[in-house]
Amino acid sequence: MKAMGALLISLALSACSTGDASSTIDYGTVEVPVGRLSSDDARGRGRTLFRKRCALCHGERADGHGARREGLSGKPINFHNKEWRANVTPLRVFEVLSEGKRGTSMPAWPTLSTEQKWDVTAYVLSVAEDGP
Ligand code: HEC
Repeated sequence: MKAMGALLISLALSACSTGDASSTIDYGTVEVPVGRLSSDDARGRGRTLFRKRCALCHGERADGHGARREGLSGKPINFHNKEWRANVTPLRVFEVLSEGKRGTSMPAWPTLSTEQKWDVTAYVLSVAEDGP
């Protein structure tokens, strides 16, 4: 009887966590902090984060030439690429940071806060114009 109770509890818990996973963020409703994206302070904080977390694959200069770029699924984006920049939106970068990019080596970053994700977004979007 005791075992049965434990089983029911674990079933209830797993039902809960599946519920959470399926109710992912609706990115259409996420508010883009426009001021933060053009702020030099945010971009500076983003650059620091980038060098710690992203440079391994995307390169210290954000040019896609990180030490670990070989053998990944997909090629780490070169953020100087004007074509990439022209076709991406801040929300898209935020979503990729939150969810990762399925089928590629681009991971999700659950350890970054929302503010940190916007800071690093501000930085990567500024590279094509302002350099690394
Ligand atoms: C383990 C290696 C790795 C790390 C670490 C990494 N990335 Fe990536 N990233 C990739 C790869 C590979 C791709 C290309 C995916 C593809 O094929 O489209 C990518 C793609 C991206 C894209 C482009 C998404 C798109 O569809 O346009 C963005 C933005 C990005 N990464 C940002 C970051 C940021 C910011 C960090 C640090 C917080 C980071 N990445 C860390 C490997 C990495």
